[in-house]
Amino acid sequence: MTDTPQQVSHPVPDEERTWWKESVVYQIYPRSFADSDGDGIGDIPGIIDRLDHVADLGVDVIWLNPVYESPQRDNGYDISDYRSIHHEYGTMADWEELLAQVHDRDMRLVMDLVVNHTSVDHEWFQRSRRGDPEYEDYYIWREGDADGDPPNNWESFFGGSAWAYDEVREAYYLHLYDESQPDLNWRNPAVRRDIFDMMAWWLEKGIDGFRMDVINLLSKAPGLPDGDPDGDWVGAEHFVDGPRILDYLEAMDERVLSNYDILTVGEMPRLTVETAREYAGEGGPLDMAFHFQHTKLDYDGDERWSVGDWDLPELKEITRRWHDGLSDEGWNALYWENHDQPRVVSRYGDPEEYRRESATLLGTFMLTRSGTPYVYQGQELGMTNANWESMETLADVDARNRAQELMETEGYESFEEIADVVGYRSRDNARTPMQWDDSEHAGFTDGEPWLPVNTNYEQVNVAAAQEGDSVTEYYRSLIDLRTEHDAFVYGTYDDLYPDHDRLAAYTQTLEFPDGGVSERMLSVLNFSGSTETVDLPTTVENADLLLSNYDRDAIAPETDHEPYEARIFRLE
Ligand code: GLC
Repeated sequence: MTDTPQQVSHPVPDEERTWWKESVVYQIYPRSFADSDGDGIGDIPGIIDRLDHVADLGVDVIWLNPVYESPQRDNGYDISDYRSIHHEYGTMADWEELLAQVHDRDMRLVMDLVVNHTSVDHEWFQRSRRGDPEYEDYYIWREGDADGDPPNNWESFFGGSAWAYDEVREAYYLHLYDESQPDLNWRNPAVRRDIFDMMAWWLEKGIDGFRMDVINLLSKAPGLPDGDPDGDWVGAEHFVDGPRILDYLEAMDERVLSNYDILTVGEMPRLTVETAREYAGEGGPLDMAFHFQHTKLDYDGDERWSVGDWDLPELKEITRRWHDGLSDEGWNALYWENHDQPRVVSRYGDPEEYRRESATLLGTFMLTRSGTPYVYQGQELGMTNANWESMETLADVDARNRAQELMETEGYESFEEIADVVGYRSRDNARTPMQWDDSEHAGFTDGEPWLPVNTNYEQVNVAAAQEGDSVTEYYRSLIDLRTEHDAFVYGTYDDLYPDHDRLAAYTQTLEFPDGGVSERMLSVLNFSGSTETVDLPTTVENADLLLSNYDRDAIAPETDHEPYEARIFRLE
């Protein structure tokens, strides 16, 4: 026996580790998850009943979309009271029970923070429009121009002018989203104080973080100048990453966030690697941010309300750029889906012939790279887009506004003419009820669901996915694998075939501080519907197959790849 202490070298030093880097997040959209009382609308007791499904996936954190009191014009992103629970979803006691049950299962709960705007029904707005001196500056009010038209040409993200005229105040107010969502005036210190107090109030209740809605839009240019009329979002250059945004977020961090051990992720339209480093790099106010670049691959040009072909080299280029750009500071947030995006199998996979294969392949791409992955409800089932046959079947305020606008301004005469685009792009695709079993309405509700269930629910549902080679089982295995191997979380991503338009092959390498390799994982993914072969340039002898979405025992990485086959190997 010698008493020399053993030299243990850890590839990831303790100071670099944090729980939110090592977590897999699961997103719940309360309106569509599970209805406990038969009114056709999901609710908090419904979520509690189904928590075991979430815990069994092996995820660590739940992000809950807004559950605050709201007229629900934008499904809760229009908040009328930040400190109470929307009555259709339950009570504060129900929410407290949810938090306790999430914590009992060793998971954490992240809440949505929507502070760029409120609902017009919020008391602040009601008092502001009446000119109450305490609240008159809580929103962005302006006189019309000389002709009484809106003060400038900025456009709402949901279409039309970003200004609405209020008869009570006899002035225009700014709304970058729906006209029922007036933008708060962050220049007013009282607004900042009230928002920071509200955030601390929720954190004191024991929540574990915030997902921050369109958080880089808080600061608007002084004087509200005209925007570029040819821009795809007119005015964006004056309110995306506006002049005081970092001051506001740094104040938020100092006053509130830094007092708690929490996860913070900003949703940031038009985020670039450079701005991500400012928001979430060293000393930045947030932990990470969502960018949108990989969700635009299937646009025709810049236009969201269009459908174009996408290509794999471009996806790889975006992936490399974000990995490399944030490798020394900052952290990536990885996602395919959320409540605003169409289902990924319907976009980048094959929802008909290879639904299971392409869903598991896309899951592999998301869960085998460094960053924090976010799985959206139903993604673990391989849920697909639905059919939207008429304007009346759509519920999404954005899709309805856009459809209306396209018909009025682009000369379309009927919904049928735009159904392909609007139906593909509508946020309703993500919001159809969660499919629990093959009973009526997929076990989501005993009543009439607020949005119709996808017609494939008899095959695609949680009960059916408990056995065999289901997408859900595969997600469980993937999440297990990620949890066991730091290389997937902290490793360096190297793309072996940047230009290949059907196959992706990449390694995730974890090194010791002295340079020796601790672990190296290789993923080979066939993004096409045909069989592919590949000659791998690396030394792949002794490659251990860890997981495949086909029934494989051991197989060499370079042998034929079946349609949408995913394989994960351990090389070292
Ligand atoms: C974000 C939300 C979206 C909402 C919008 C306005 O993009 O994710 O659902 O409609 O902000 O709050």
